[in-house]
Amino acid sequence: MKVTVVGAGNVGATCANVIAHKELANEVILVDIKEGLAEGKALDIWETSPINLYDTRTIGSTNDYSKTANSDVVVITSGIPRKPGMSRDDLIATNAGIVKTVTENIIEKSPNSIIIIVSNPLDVMTYCAYLTAKVDSSRVFGMAGILDTARYRSFLAEALNVSPKDIQAVLMGGHGDTMVPLPRYTTVGGIPVTELIGETELDAIVERTKKGGGELVNLMGTSAWYAPGAAAAQMVEAIVRDQKRIFPVCALLNGEYGMDNIYLGVPVVLGKKGIEKIIELDLNEDEKKLLDDSAVAVKSVMDVLDNMNLF
Ligand code: NAI
Ligand code: 2OP
Repeated sequence: MKVTVVGAGNVGATCANVIAHKELANEVILVDIKEGLAEGKALDIWETSPINLYDTRTIGSTNDYSKTANSDVVVITSGIPRKPGMSRDDLIATNAGIVKTVTENIIEKSPNSIIIIVSNPLDVMTYCAYLTAKVDSSRVFGMAGILDTARYRSFLAEALNVSPKDIQAVLMGGHGDTMVPLPRYTTVGGIPVTELIGETELDAIVERTKKGGGELVNLMGTSAWYAPGAAAAQMVEAIVRDQKRIFPVCALLNGEYGMDNIYLGVPVVLGKKGIEKIIELDLNEDEKKLLDDSAVAVKSVMDVLDNMNLF
């Protein structure tokens, strides 16, 4: 197995490190446009192999895509992150061009690869990569839901003083403040969460989750990387190990949930073919309304992409 991670910044390097540490591939190629950065981080990661006891080779490349040839899975993290006061959508002017160029290079060298987008604004950057790659949407999708649910689950674990391992949850919609955590589909060791926590406290956790990315931007001056990098690596794991995991993933909807031609977070089965199935939940009216509102927000950013005339 060969995995490429484009963007050797905070998220990309963390993702490559987790992939290597878990031996999810024989080779991880780290690519960045900044001279020497990917080579340096790949070497630094490789130097942990005798300590962490793994064989995965990590190789860096400054914008030379020949090294990425025939990758099985590619994670695209290249682009600028948020600064305090910015929304993810403010990034589109810069990141759309980057994601398009990178995807062209990737698909040229690895035409059969599965592509996971991380760059923001996530839902629209995933759509941008899909329009560029011109391959089946089962092979182009985005990472956000695993991260957003992980935040939700970690907040719940803290509030309930239980292990985060025992908290299962689904979250849908766009990767933004309109995301839709679903308490009705949240369980703690098989027990509905609503039996363990009061409505007010749960509502507060849902609100904190929606703004979870911003909370970290305000603390650090840039966006998060440990959980995002680990979340992208978890998607790589499901694919390379053909695990058929059920995760919330930013996927192209063609009729599901009554929507067409839009990338939005929904539960899917993830395996060696990429998205092997989109799961359609029987949402109640309130949940459906929240999902529809989230789709409206994503559509407005898709319009910005359309107006850039890149395609
Ligand atoms: P960063 O600034 O640490 O790293 C980005 C890297 O991309 C830099 O090293 C830069 O040199 C590189 N880059 C820029 N243009 C490139 C190109 N054309 N080819 C190759 N490399 C290029 O940023 P960070 O924190 O790693 O975030 C990366 C992106 O991921 C941002 O857009 C951020 O908003 C997004 N993000 C998305 C998350 C999600 O849940 N989907 C979570 C966290 C971050
Ligand atoms: C996050 O949610 C900014 O999308 C990034 O951390």
